[in-house]
Amino acid sequence: MPTLVVIPGDGIGLEVIPAAVRVLQTAIPGLEIIEKEAGWGCFQKHGISVPADTLEAIRSVKAALFGAVSSPAYKVEGYRSAIITLRQELDLYANLRPVHSLPRVSPRPGVDLIIVRENTEGLYAGRERRDGDTAIAERVITREASRHIAEKTFQLARSLHRRRVTIVHKANILPITDGLFRDTVRAVGAAFIAAHGLFVEIDELLVDVAAYRLAAEPESLDMIVTTNLFGDILSDEAAAWGGGMGLAPSINLGDSLTLAEPVHGSAPDIAGKGIANPIASILSAALLARHAWDLPDVASAIEKSVEACLNQGIGATPRAALLPGETERITRAVIDHLK
Ligand code: NAI
Ligand code: MG
Repeated sequence: MPTLVVIPGDGIGLEVIPAAVRVLQTAIPGLEIIEKEAGWGCFQKHGISVPADTLEAIRSVKAALFGAVSSPAYKVEGYRSAIITLRQELDLYANLRPVHSLPRVSPRPGVDLIIVRENTEGLYAGRERRDGDTAIAERVITREASRHIAEKTFQLARSLHRRRVTIVHKANILPITDGLFRDTVRAVGAAFIAAHGLFVEIDELLVDVAAYRLAAEPESLDMIVTTNLFGDILSDEAAAWGGGMGLAPSINLGDSLTLAEPVHGSAPDIAGKGIANPIASILSAALLARHAWDLPDVASAIEKSVEACLNQGIGATPRAALLPGETERITRAVIDHLK
């Protein structure tokens, strides 16, 4: 029986994660839950954003569901973003963000794409410094991390039956760093395709062109692999096609560990009101079933229940019209469809 480490975190994480856990426990009766702390609230209580026993639990259980953390937008001595710490400490080197058109909430049908974001380096390497009136951030690209993300991308392309992998970069302006990324991903991809006899095309786009394409012709994109910051930005942009932040799921993958999380943050503007949409977390839980436990039927059942609710208008309320009790209403409806 699978076991799951659950880390609600801060803000609406405390509301949407318990909702997703109830859905998972309906889909997988007997699922065992271990609850752990991380985040800003945890830092204020214990002086650390990710306690050692949280990391240990994930290493031993191998699967985690994480809500969101609040990170102050100024430097706080000793504080480091919990989600960045988790990704780096656990070597969760790939962030998978699928975007599909969903009933009633998507601006148009036919979008079905996956963004794979490098999760450990780039501008998130933490090498930022100040020299008088000059501030510098180093953007680190290594062959090893590029190879890692490429291998994961093409394994996913195979298991998820994708047809095209588009490498997104800015090698015209950053020929050394993004040149290394692009060339490494291309070489790994070509070798993987040859070794496995896959029918997957590899192409590439500059990030600015990719941003336009994502806005103008999202149906033309199948699978994107890119560096950390580009992936962060493009996947938030792409989330609009899936119905917005309240519905966008993601999962962080390493070689043996997985941590699923909604794309959204702690949403302090609506926290504590019971109105947050739990669907992003519920769909993230479905990704755990598919990628952590190899239970694709469970994942599909959860996804179908969500779609059935959206078809009835449940979970499709515009943000401005959310009413108290919305989180609970959507959760119950998804559970009822699952039963
Ligand atoms: P956010 O994603 O928390 O919120 C953006 C907007 O979307 C807000 O208006 C919010 O109300 C709405 N929203 C988000 N999730 C929703 C849901 N499930 N249902 C309905 N509406 C929803 O991003 P924001 O406001 O920029 O950041 C707030 C805090 O979250 C910051 O401290 C930031 O650092 C943190 N953050 C954490 C992330 C993580 O833990 N992975 C990711 C993004 C932000
Ligand atoms: Mg983001």
